[in-house]
Amino acid sequence: MALFLDRSRFLLRKLKDLRNLTPQRNRVKEKWAATRPKHPPTRLALQHFDATYGTELGSLWPSIRIALLSEKKYGALINVFSSDVSLAELQVQGCRDFINDGVVQTSFEGGAKNESSDVSMAKAEADGLQESPLQHSPNLQCFVFQRGDIRRFKPARPDQFGLFGYYLMDAASVLPCLALDVKDGDTVLDLCAAPGGKSLALLQTQLIRFLCANDSSVSRTKRLKQVLQSYIPKQFLTEDTLRITSFDGTMWGEIEKNAFDRVLVDVPCTTDRHSLMEDDNNIFNKSRTGERRSLPQLQLELLLAGIIAACPGGEIVYSTCTLSLNQNQSVVEQAIHLAQEQHNIHLQVVSLRPLVQMFKNTFHFAPELHLGEMVIPHLAANFGPIYLCKLRRLT
Ligand SMILES: C[S@@+](CC[C@H](N)C(=O)[O-])C[C@H]1O[C@@H](n2cnc3c(N)ncnc32)[C@H](O)[C@@H]1O
Repeated sequence: MALFLDRSRFLLRKLKDLRNLTPQRNRVKEKWAATRPKHPPTRLALQHFDATYGTELGSLWPSIRIALLSEKKYGALINVFSSDVSLAELQVQGCRDFINDGVVQTSFEGGAKNESSDVSMAKAEADGLQESPLQHSPNLQCFVFQRGDIRRFKPARPDQFGLFGYYLMDAASVLPCLALDVKDGDTVLDLCAAPGGKSLALLQTQLIRFLCANDSSVSRTKRLKQVLQSYIPKQFLTEDTLRITSFDGTMWGEIEKNAFDRVLVDVPCTTDRHSLMEDDNNIFNKSRTGERRSLPQLQLELLLAGIIAACPGGEIVYSTCTLSLNQNQSVVEQAIHLAQEQHNIHLQVVSLRPLVQMFKNTFHFAPELHLGEMVIPHLAANFGPIYLCKLRRLT
């Protein structure tokens, strides 16, 4: 025992000597302790969400909270232009194409389908909403693992032309593209497009005559270009079919009015899942408080610009990846009001209930919202959050 104590004292003395020999500036631990943020943005985000969503979402919040703090699930958006797409390989792994399965399932319900669409139509009419006759291109395919299966996809491989077989993204992010319901020959504006997942999904339909993909961030626009070049053959990326720009989207109404058949307004938001998991580039960082608080105003200006850019009869989809009422329904409400008051543009809210009906086996949707639909994260289907609302220009 005495020997053990002697040895311990000896080691402690050695450690002390070593410490004294190490110049102060190189004492890593103390330096780390001094620069460590007292309030990590992820913790601030959780406190903020507990306070607001606890009230806004009530009893739904605890289970959404657990899902948000757990590993998210991906979808593999199939690249129809790649020769390396091994659908059989994905199917053997137990994945399924949730888009085409959803359509088959809804048709399989047969009478129930007609019944339910009649019911939702009647309800939509009663609510003063217009039902969306959702169609979609069979080229748009997105594979997901089954509910409760938390395996991950392998990284996609490039084929002999350098085109990747699939693009990994939150499968719920495909819903705004499906809601946009592009038709053959449509002109489309993707107002906040980078890094490009939704633009890519829209191009997979092969229905669009002309796509304008814009993002105000120059560096993110570069990433968008890289993404499109890694998935789409050069002959489809000509000036006649695609324009990539880096304008401030809020100014679009002054650049091009009444021009597009479809406009996607996928705005910057508090990106709830990212804000809870990553301290880097986190909007809850104290230095970004002003930027975070001004998000609803920026979102409103972007949506209004998107509405003005659409042609009369054209359709606009507004989407975010936050659960926040202030960034979702409130923005849409104000935009509808301001479009009418300031620009004499009358809008109709298009019901997305058919889309919910189609994909209710893949995603958890929030119980009926008064405006739009929302995918809420759930441990068995950990996608989202994604909020989406569709508007149609009447004038
Ligand atoms: C949610 S992300 C878009 C994600 C993209 N739609 C996708 O699917 O890959 C929001 C984007 O809005 C861009 N943004 C922010 N302010 C903008 C503005 N005033 N005009 C246009 N884009 C803006 C950001 O740079 C960011 O890339």
